[in-house]
Amino acid sequence: MSKFELNDWVLLTSQKGKNWLVRVEDAPYSSHLGGIQLRDVIGKEEGDWLMTSKGARLMLFRPSLQDYIFAMKRRTQIIYPKDLSAMIFYGDIYPGCVVIETGIGSGALSLALLRAMCGGGKLISIEKRAEFASDARENITRFFGAPVENHEIIVADIQNACLSVQADRIFVDLPEPWQAVGNLSSMLRMGGLLVSLSPNVGQIQLTQRQLLANGFGDIVHFELLRRDWKVDRLRARPFDRMVAHTGFITVAKRVSADRGEPVESDSGTEDFAGSVEEGEDGVGC
Ligand SMILES: C[S@@+](CC[C@H](N)C(=O)[O-])C[C@H]1O[C@@H](n2cnc3c(N)ncnc32)[C@H](O)[C@@H]1O
Repeated sequence: MSKFELNDWVLLTSQKGKNWLVRVEDAPYSSHLGGIQLRDVIGKEEGDWLMTSKGARLMLFRPSLQDYIFAMKRRTQIIYPKDLSAMIFYGDIYPGCVVIETGIGSGALSLALLRAMCGGGKLISIEKRAEFASDARENITRFFGAPVENHEIIVADIQNACLSVQADRIFVDLPEPWQAVGNLSSMLRMGGLLVSLSPNVGQIQLTQRQLLANGFGDIVHFELLRRDWKVDRLRARPFDRMVAHTGFITVAKRVSADRGEPVESDSGTEDFAGSVEEGEDGVGC
């Protein structure tokens, strides 16, 4: 177990579980629990603790990816850890795979993907807003300590982007995912997986239609609920509050056209979101 050094990240955790993520430097740090000198962290190990000026104990840890994601600069909604973990597993990410992701937002999903890819393969992130691409690049570089060699960020609208790549996996976190499905299908190899996260039911209904129309099969949609419990000497019961809804995860496989599932009959549902017309699939390649 290595000892903390100057410039390392350290997660300060109170006895009630409140966290602060800071750099180890020659400076004071204070919170409502009192102050410490950050240089006193140098030479300590994970699991050691420091006493604040008010007598509170702060445990010292290296941040997990989850800790880092909640502390990093965020100007967009990020994908929550409960969904990130499921997307990585159900999206079957493995070292060496080629992955396309759109949009990059603050880079939370990119970080989880790059971690799971273990330095192999390639991640291509397509983001239409340059300022978000720049935030995400900064967040990712800071986490890994240097620019990541197997990661490329392209500033473009996914509806017009044209990549001559046959990816193994595609991850979608867009407000209008159904508009991108047609173009993305041409960048995914047969048998490859597309994973999408959407907060609204209407989004997944429209995405389902476009997936069926663009050669995808074995499509599943699900959501995950995490309910934390309060456990002490006298009680064991769920907390009163929880993050009740984040999003629906869609996982689909690219299949050859003659084996694709039939396109669902329309049965009068096309008007409910009012934004998709036949043939408006955003095919850019
Ligand atoms: C919710 S954020 C993504 C958050 C990201 N998954 C994360 O975990 O940090 C959605 C992103 O999609 C980008 N976006 C929206 N429409 C797009 C398009 N047509 N092409 C590329 N990026 C797009 C937005 O600019 C925004 O950065």
